[in-house]
Order: sequence, then structure tokens, then C-alpha cells
Amino acid sequence: MEFDFDKVIDRWNSHSSKWDGMEKAVGAKGRDAIALWVAEMDFESPPAVKEALIEQAERGTHGYYTGDATWREAMSGWLSRRHGWEPDPDWITPTSGIVSALGLILQEFSEENDHIVVFSPAYHAFGKIIAANNRRIHNQPMINEQGRYRMDLEGLAASLPSDAKVMFFCSPHNPGGRVWEEDEIRAVCEFCIEHDLLLVSDEIHHDLVYSGYTHHVTAKLVPEVMDRLVTCAAATKTFNLAGAHIGGAIISNSELRRRFRSVSNAAGLLSFPLFGMIATEAAQRHGDAWLDALLPYLEKNRDLLADRVSRDIPGARAMHIEATYLGWIDFAGTGLDRQEVTRRIAEDARLGVSPGPQFGPGGESWIRLNFATPRSVLNEALDRMADAFSNLRR
Ligand SMILES: Cc1ncc(COP(=O)(O)O)c(C=O)c1O
Repeated sequence: MEFDFDKVIDRWNSHSSKWDGMEKAVGAKGRDAIALWVAEMDFESPPAVKEALIEQAERGTHGYYTGDATWREAMSGWLSRRHGWEPDPDWITPTSGIVSALGLILQEFSEENDHIVVFSPAYHAFGKIIAANNRRIHNQPMINEQGRYRMDLEGLAASLPSDAKVMFFCSPHNPGGRVWEEDEIRAVCEFCIEHDLLLVSDEIHHDLVYSGYTHHVTAKLVPEVMDRLVTCAAATKTFNLAGAHIGGAIISNSELRRRFRSVSNAAGLLSFPLFGMIATEAAQRHGDAWLDALLPYLEKNRDLLADRVSRDIPGARAMHIEATYLGWIDFAGTGLDRQEVTRRIAEDARLGVSPGPQFGPGGESWIRLNFATPRSVLNEALDRMADAFSNLRR
């Protein structure tokens, strides 16, 4: 294989939040614990990223970064090649990651105590950044229709608070891995137009889509919504560069863009980290072949996880994941209570997974398990999980 996704890299003691922060965050202890929580992969990033970073490191001088036109062109080029949408590079503003962009959006486009709409269960940092900015989350639970999430826009129309200003739309969705269909995205856009909401389309997982599914860029599918739309895109999930902490806020409406840039400037975000900019640009210019090789590897891991859960843990069900490398497993049918499931996973299996309640209403009996790890590591984790629930098979 040209790219070695089977290579096991020791990530302990490397300032890795996923590994070194595991015990404190999710309880799995000891050197043989396996980290399957934070949404990043255990694979090396594309060789072109390493080469670009080495070139910079060898230069030895690491001053302030300037000249982001090439970075913006690389992002626009990637979106055009991979998703058929070529935003004007001038619409793109670099950000210190997507969550940081969400915070700036809330500060500029909503007031304290306003409601922010989220389809739950949803990426936990949505709730955190909403609370940190003294706004209120309006969770609209998704409907689990035969094991597949659907957004409940009728329910949302009935429950929408009058002070709702912004919707965080996660496309593809984390957790649960839905790739929204064209009609579903259109309905979300129409809803935001009708109810005068700013739509934030967080498309950070856009490239991690499995065979049989196509990601539709909101802006391309529904140009009418672009006047009230912020698209969030990044190279960081796709290429395992989360530590680069760089994303892009793409805004075609010049007034919205001016306001976003002014709040970003007010936070002192006038320049971005040199290494992060270099790494993400190299990835989006040269990472195609690497991503094309990665996706079938991840897809096999996804299938392995689903097979083992249904075979080894009677009553547990893994949702069919259409995108993302984040498995989503419901333990409600096992008859075990939440504490016991958590204890068996963290203490007996020594696996660090994300607890479902973190993701809000609808996540109570679930766990999120990151399967973007070498197959041997995943197999070991699944063997331990099977052992931890072996009494259910008797
Ligand atoms: C939907 C979604 N948005 C944003 C992020 C994080 O983005 P960043 O690291 O750029 O803040 C994640 C990470 O898991 C995510 O799942």
C-alpha cells in the first residue's frame, strides 16, 4: 500500500489530548487503555504535509505568517475538485478552527440569552460554545427512523422560540453520521429563510463520506440561502490536522462577511499560525490520493465495528454510519443501565469512548466510538468490548 494506515504510532506523552488526556476526560486508565474518543485519527497525515512542515522547520525561523491568498485558493480549489463548488477565495476568512468561528458568529449575530437551534444529539462543542457566550441552546431532537436520523422541522416550527437567531446545521451530522439528502438540506434552508435565522452550515466532515453517499454543499444546492449563510469548512478532520486549529468561514454576502471579519479582528485574530496554515494548504493542494486511499480503509473499519457490535453485544445497535469516522452505538436494548455500560467500557475493556449524554437529548443510552485507528488496534478494542459484555451472550 502506498499509504500505511496499518502503522501503529505511539502517541502517548506527545501532548495528545486524545491519548494523554483520556484518563481525566473519559476515565479509561493505564498504559494499555485505547483512545477512541476525540474526533481525530491515529494515522499519519499525507506525506505532502510532512514535507511542507519539514521544509519550514529546516528554515529554522518561524515568524508571523502572511499572504493567505494561496491558502484561500487551495481551499476553494479543494471544494471545487471534491465537491463541485468553487467559492470565490475572497469569500473565505481563515479562523482559529471552526468552534472559534462559531463563537465569533454568536457574538456578532446574536444577543445574550438568544436561542441557537441545534438538531440533537449534536457535536458537544456546539452546546459548550453557546453556553460560553451566554446564549441558550434550543435542542430539536432528531427522529430515529428505523436506525436513521431525520431532522424534525415540523417539531422545530412548533417549538421555535421567538428569540432564535442562528441555526447550527451539522452536515454531515456528528454523531450518527448522516449525509443529508438534497431535499433535507433544501428544507433546512427554507426553514431558515422563513424564520429569519442565520444558517451556519458546519461541513467539517464533508470529505469523510462513504460509498453510496454524496455530500451536498448547502451553498451550491440552495443559492437562495447564501445571503444568510456561513459555511464552515476545514482540512483538519479530513487530513488529521486538528492540532493545526485552522478552519475557514465562507461568506458570500459582503455585509455578513464584513461583520464577521470585524468581530474576528476585534478578537485579535489578525494573523494565523504559520505551521497550521502551511499544513492545511499542503493537504488541500496535494492530499487527494491519500484521502482516496483512506476512505476504503475507514469504510472497512466501520463495517467491522458494526458486525462485531451486532455479533458480540446482544441488544446493542450500531447506527449505520454514512459519513465521519465516528461510530454511534445504542446500548438501550442490553438491559444494562448507563453507569454499568460506562463502567464496563472504561474499566473492564479500558476503552476511552465519548459518552452519549454529552451530545444532548437523544444521546442518553449511546456511546460514540472513533474507529479511525489502525485495524489491529480496532480489533483489540473490539475483542475487549466483546469480553466486557460476554455475560450477555450466555
Ligand atoms: C461538527 C464539528 N464541527 C467542528 C469541529 C471542530 O472543529 P475545530 O477543531 O476546527 O474547532 C468538530 C470536531 O469534532 C466537529 O465534529
